Amino acid sequence: MSILARLALAASIATALSTPLLAAEMTVGFSQIGSESGWRAAETSVTKQQAEERGIDLKFADAQQKQENQIKAIRGFIAQGVDAILVAPVVATGWDDVLTEAKEADIPVVLLDRGVDASEDLYLASVASDQVKEGRVAGQWLVDTVGDKECKVVELQGTVGSTPAINRKKGFEEAIAGHANITIARSQTGDFTRSKGKEVMEGFIKAENGGKDICAMYAHNDDMAVGAIQAMKDAGLKPGSDIYVVSIDAVPDIFAAMVAGEANATVELTPNMAGPAFDVLAAYLKDGTKPEKFIITESKLYTPADNPQGEYDTRKGLGY
Ligand code: AHR
Repeated sequence: MSILARLALAASIATALSTPLLAAEMTVGFSQIGSESGWRAAETSVTKQQAEERGIDLKFADAQQKQENQIKAIRGFIAQGVDAILVAPVVATGWDDVLTEAKEADIPVVLLDRGVDASEDLYLASVASDQVKEGRVAGQWLVDTVGDKECKVVELQGTVGSTPAINRKKGFEEAIAGHANITIARSQTGDFTRSKGKEVMEGFIKAENGGKDICAMYAHNDDMAVGAIQAMKDAGLKPGSDIYVVSIDAVPDIFAAMVAGEANATVELTPNMAGPAFDVLAAYLKDGTKPEKFIITESKLYTPADNPQGEYDTRKGLGY
C-alpha cells in the first residue's frame, strides 16, 4: 500500500473513531419495575416505541417488583457493555453500589419516573414528575371541593418505600394542612395495584360504618382508585357522589369512571419519560453535553368538566 493510501486509511480510521455516537447506534438497557398498573404498561410500550422510532437497540428487563432483580439486570447491562441504562427504581434506597458500578464502567444512567436516595453524581439525569406537587394538586382539589364541610379521607398509598408513595402522601398532607375539617382517617398501602386497592378499600368501608363515614378516597394511582370504586359499588355505595374519588395518573380507565360519574379528579402523569431520556443520552454520548439533572414533567388536573370521553379516546388511540 502506498504511503498516500496508508495516510488516507489512517485518516478514515481516526474519523471513524471520533465520529459521535448516533441514536441509531445506541444500545440502551432498561430495567423496568414490572406491570403493576395501566400507567406502567403504558410507560413500557411508549419506551419501546420511542426506542424503535430512533433506531435504538433497547434491552428490556422486567423486574417483577423486586429491587434485587433490577440490580441483577443493571449488572447484566454493565457486563454487556451497553451505551446507557434507564432504570425506574421500585424503591428509593439501596442503589449506591450498583450505580457506582455503572459510573465506574462509564455508563450513564437515567432514572425514569421514580427517584433514589443516592448521591446525584451517580446518575446523569432523572426524568420524573414533581410527585409532591401531584399530591398537592389532588389535595387542593379536595379542599376546593368540600369547602367547610367535615370530610374524613381514606388514603390508598403506593408501594412502600417508593418515591411516589412518599411524596404524593406528603403533598396531599401539605394541601389539607390548615383545613381542620379535612382529616385522613385511614391510610394503607394498596401497592399501586387494582386488586390490592379493592381489598384495602373493602377494609376501610367495613371499619368506617359501611363507608357512610367516608367523605373522600385519595389513591396514589388510578388503578387503586378503580379497584376502590369496585369495592364501593359492591358495598352499595355510589363512588363519585357518596364518596369523592381523587387519584393520580390519568389513564383511560379513570376517564371511563368519570364518564360513568364514578370518579371526580385525576392528576396526569405522562408515560413518555423515555423520549426526554433518549434526547439527553444522545446529546451526552455525542459530545458530553451535560443535561439538567432533573427533568420535570407536567402535573395537570383533570375533572369531569374536561371532556373525559375525549381524554379516554385520545389515550386509547395512543396505545394505552
Ligand atoms: O412511579 C409512577 C407510579 O408507578 C404510577 O403513578 C403508578 O401507576 C405506577 O405504578
